[in-house]
Amino acid sequence: MLIDDIQKYIDEIRAIQMAQFKDKAAEAENFRIKYLGKKGIINDLFEQFKAMPNEQKKTLGQALNMLKTTAQNKVEEFKAFVEEHQDEIADSDLTRPTDFAPVGSRHVLSVVMNEIIDIFGRIGFTVAESVEVEDDWHLFSALNFPPDHPARDMQDTFFVEKEEGKQDVALRTHTSSVQVRVMEANRPPIRIIAPGRVFRNEAISARAHCIFHQVEALYVDKHVTFADLKQTLLYFAKEMFGEQTQIRLRPSYFPFTEPSAEMDISCSIGGGKGCNICKGTGWLEILGCGMVDPNVLKACNIDPNEYTGFALGMGVERMAMLKYQIRDLRLYFENDLRFLRQFDAII
Ligand code: DAH
Repeated sequence: MLIDDIQKYIDEIRAIQMAQFKDKAAEAENFRIKYLGKKGIINDLFEQFKAMPNEQKKTLGQALNMLKTTAQNKVEEFKAFVEEHQDEIADSDLTRPTDFAPVGSRHVLSVVMNEIIDIFGRIGFTVAESVEVEDDWHLFSALNFPPDHPARDMQDTFFVEKEEGKQDVALRTHTSSVQVRVMEANRPPIRIIAPGRVFRNEAISARAHCIFHQVEALYVDKHVTFADLKQTLLYFAKEMFGEQTQIRLRPSYFPFTEPSAEMDISCSIGGGKGCNICKGTGWLEILGCGMVDPNVLKACNIDPNEYTGFALGMGVERMAMLKYQIRDLRLYFENDLRFLRQFDAII
């Protein structure tokens, strides 16, 4: 019976909820075409209606009109729903271009460390890595530290084991320990850099931290001279801080090098006239270096009469501070996105 069909469609339409639709816009349009389109169900029913006996037309006509308004109301309801849920609906459109997802970036210390590795890599230095928990021999004794040297003191070093009659074990206080590890395990020529984390028992402030990073370089071969060291330093300074950079060496002391020096680079921040970072001197202290002490070579079973070498060590945090004018060491470790995001563009 036609009237039953009409009633069935009305019930069907009333039961439809847009929330069930997966692709809202497309399914709403399909609905409209199915019921209200030219060749749709309702037009078809009107065609059938024409052929019905006149006495039924009144009831049928009313029912048909009811069906048509129900369908039209549903279409309006769909429109309102789409408008109201615009954002969610748009999100489910798989063809829509995505928002740009923020991409993570390297930490500025990694960036600077990689840059140092790269600069030395270009002149034949390969990366050596070693343990962060180190024994007294590799940290101090083999590096020619006298038994009473202050660096062995509790105040500077985080000891892991310190027992009478046993070798001390500590978190490494510098990457110079890697020199020893490499020389023990390899014969010259040796040309390595050792980047890594180091630890010192210091109170945390803007200028000191208990964890920081160093890069150590070591070159041991026949006929290595101080001139090789100087040339390497100049090359490094120019690559790292720009072609105009000048270097200056000041005599210094380290137990594992003889002679020892500290290197400064010319400060270009205040246009060469000095700034508050170089404290008006025009020079910035960058690293420690020197010729490997014969005692260190001996401790590693390398004959100092046959071989010589140079070594140098620098702090990565300091390099980054100078390069990017960062004024507080704590920023490196706080993971504050406002700080980290400033280096987004640097790879
Ligand atoms: N180990 C030193 C430090 O932690 C840095 C250093 C100085 C390393 C001179 C060297 C060097 O290789 O020759 O302060």
